[in-house]
Amino acid sequence: MNSLREVTATRYVTPFREGGSMPGLVEADDLGMYVVKFRGAGQGVKVLVAEIVVGELARRLGFRIPEIVLVHLDPELARAEPDQEVQELLRASGGLNLGLDYLPGSFDFNPIVRDPGVELATKLLWLDALVLNVDRSWRNPNMLLWHRDVWLIDHGASLYFHYSWSPERPATKDFRFDPSDHAMLPNAGSLSEVDAELSAKITPELLDEVLALVPDEWLDGDPVELRQRYKDFFTYRLAHRGWVDSLEAARAARV
Ligand SMILES: Nc1ncnc2c1ncn2[C@@H]1O[C@H](COP(=O)(O)OP(=O)(O)OP(=O)(O)O)[C@@H](O)[C@H]1O
Ligand SMILES: [Mg+2]
Repeated sequence: MNSLREVTATRYVTPFREGGSMPGLVEADDLGMYVVKFRGAGQGVKVLVAEIVVGELARRLGFRIPEIVLVHLDPELARAEPDQEVQELLRASGGLNLGLDYLPGSFDFNPIVRDPGVELATKLLWLDALVLNVDRSWRNPNMLLWHRDVWLIDHGASLYFHYSWSPERPATKDFRFDPSDHAMLPNAGSLSEVDAELSAKITPELLDEVLALVPDEWLDGDPVELRQRYKDFFTYRLAHRGWVDSLEAARAARV
């Protein structure tokens, strides 16, 4: 079945203070623990849309991503919370929120410290350029090492075009992606093989499947039209792959 699992939050456990959007560790009615990104956080609900679209696309391309679930939250959970900032966040987040399966014992993975391997490095550089993920720099790689594997997190800053689209500024144009700070640039190899492999996997059907996972209520307007806009973005970007040449140029400039 093509849908995200839904759970209901039963307990707010603790905030992740390092996260800019105040994600929190939450227990749910399936007794699972989830890292929850709240709809009421200042960044707004488009961050959650990007988490789903990019996370689920990446999963289908073979990357490891913690399971993404939809978390129902009763704002009354705020009552039990002593911290005022957290209280306000929970009160503003009634309804559907986004949860990532919590990976216990995981820790930040940085390719400066540990070699990720050329295949993962090259594929991840390609993926982040495709989806305009500006949040995978060597300063803040947003990768976790868990059970000896690299897991990707934090895709909310991708697809930044959705903040400014309008009939005059459509998603179907060339967007800038600066790879110079990308965590994987020093480890990546030649892009041509990866480019051929991954771009062939992203069919119109795959895009529909991924976009169908986004809850209608997070789409700001007619859901059919909005899903089409995201699809048009990907279709355009895959048909105009000058950005792959830019990645090769950035790699060449390093040596
Ligand atoms: N699934 C997970 N399992 C375990 N820890 C996680 C998971 N997801 C996130 N974390 C931890 O929570 C921190 C914040 O998560 P994330 O980067 O997604 O939030 P953010 O608010 O977007 O952060 P920022 O914008 O500051 O990078 C991560 O650096 C990581 O330490
Ligand atoms: Mg982060």
